[in-house]
Amino acid sequence: MKRLACLCVCSLVLLTALAACGSPRPAPVASAPPTSAVTAEQWAERYPMEYAQWAASVHGVAYLAGDMAAPGCTGCHGDPAGGETRTAAFRLNIPAQCGRCHADQQVTAKHALPNDTYESYLKTFHGATIEYYRATDPLAERYEAVCSDCHTAHAIHAPSDARSSVAPANLRRACVKCHQDAEPVFGTMGYGHFRIDRTASPLLYVLDLFYRIAIPLIIGAMLLYILLDILHRVRGRAVGGNQS
Ligand code: HEC
Ligand code: HEC
Ligand code: HEC
Ligand code: HEC
Repeated sequence: MKRLACLCVCSLVLLTALAACGSPRPAPVASAPPTSAVTAEQWAERYPMEYAQWAASVHGVAYLAGDMAAPGCTGCHGDPAGGETRTAAFRLNIPAQCGRCHADQQVTAKHALPNDTYESYLKTFHGATIEYYRATDPLAERYEAVCSDCHTAHAIHAPSDARSSVAPANLRRACVKCHQDAEPVFGTMGYGHFRIDRTASPLLYVLDLFYRIAIPLIIGAMLLYILLDILHRVRGRAVGGNQS
C-alpha cells in the first residue's frame, strides 16, 4: 500500500513537470502549391501590380537575389488565373501556407527569423478561429484576420521597415479595415502574434507558469485522492467481509 502511494505521488510529480515544460504541438502546415512553367518575366507581364509589389518586398528581393528559400510567384499559390486565390478555402489555408516556411526550423534559422511566428498567430483570437474552421469546415467563409490581411499579400516587409503595413505607424490602419471603431491603442496590443515573453511581460509569464504547474497538480491530486479512497473502501470491505 505504501509502495503504491509512493508510485502514485512520483507519477503525479512527473506528469506535472511534463505539462509545465512541454508546449502543445502546433497545427500542421500546408503543402507547397503546384509549381508552374511560367517564367518570372511572364508573371511580371501578366500581373504587373502584384509583381512590382512582390519584387520590392522582403520575399521578392531575396528571391531575385537567388535565395530559393523565399517564395516566388508560386510560393504561396498556383496560377491566380484559375480564381483559386479568391475562394474561401484558399483564405482559410493562408496561415498554414505562410507557416510552411515561417515554422520551418531550417528556413527561420538560416534567415535569423523567430520560429514561433505561426504558433504565436494561432494563439490569437484570429488564429485560433481560423485554424478551428480550417480543421473542421475548410469551405467556410471566415473574416477573422489571416496573415495577408495585416501584412498584405505581396508588399510584405519586415515590421521595422516603414513601408510595412504592420510598422507601428501603419498598424492601426490594418485593424480599422475590419474593426471600424477601433481605439488608437488597439493596434499596439500584440494581437498579431501572442507571445508570453519573460522580459517583456514578466507578470504574464509567471502567471502562465503558475497555471501550467497548478492545473495538472490539482487535477492529479484529485485523481490520486479518489484512487486512494477507492482502494481504502475495497480494503475496508474485504476486512469487513472477513469479520462477518
Ligand atoms: C507570400 C505569399 C505570396 C506570394 C509570394 C505571391 N502571392 Fe499572390 N497572393 C497571395 C495571397 C495571400 C493572395 C490572396 C489574397 C489577396 O489577393 O490579397 C494572392 C493573390 C494573388 C492574385 C489575385 C488577386 C485578385 O484580386 O484576385 C494575383 C494576380 C497574384 N496573387 C499574383 C502573384 C504574383 C504575380 C506573384 C509573384 C510576383 C505572387 N502573387 C506571389 C500571396 C502571395
Ligand atoms: C517559401 C517560403 C515562404 C513563404 C511561403 C512565406 N515566407 Fe515570409 N519569408 C521567407 C523568407 C526566407 C524570409 C526572409 C527573407 C530575408 O530576410 O531575406 C521571409 C521574410 C518574411 C517577413 C520579414 C520578417 C522580418 O522580420 O524580416 C515577413 C513579415 C514575412 N516573411 C511574412 C510572410 C507572410 C505573411 C507569408 C504568407 C502570406 C509568408 N511570409 C510566406 C519565406 C517564406
Ligand atoms: C480581415 C479582418 C480583420 C483584421 C484586419 C483584423 N481583425 Fe480582429 N477580428 C476580426 C473578426 C472577424 C473578429 C471576430 C469578431 C467578433 O467575434 O467580435 C476579430 C476579433 C478580434 C479581437 C477579439 C474579439 C473582440 O472583438 O474583442 C481582437 C482583440 C482583435 N480582433 C484585434 C485586432 C487587431 C489589434 C487588429 C490589427 C492588428 C485586427 N484585429 C485586425 C477581423 C479582423
Ligand atoms: C492581426 C494582424 C496580424 C496577423 C493576422 C499576422 N501578423 Fe505577423 N505581425 C503583425 C505585427 C503587428 C507584427 C510586429 C510585432 C509583433 O511581432 O507582434 C508582426 C510580425 C511578423 C513577423 C516578424 C517576425 C515575428 O515573428 O515577429 C513575421 C515573419 C510575421 N509577422 C508573419 C506572419 C505570418 C506568417 C502570419 C500568419 C500565420 C501573420 N504574421 C499574421 C501583425 C499580424
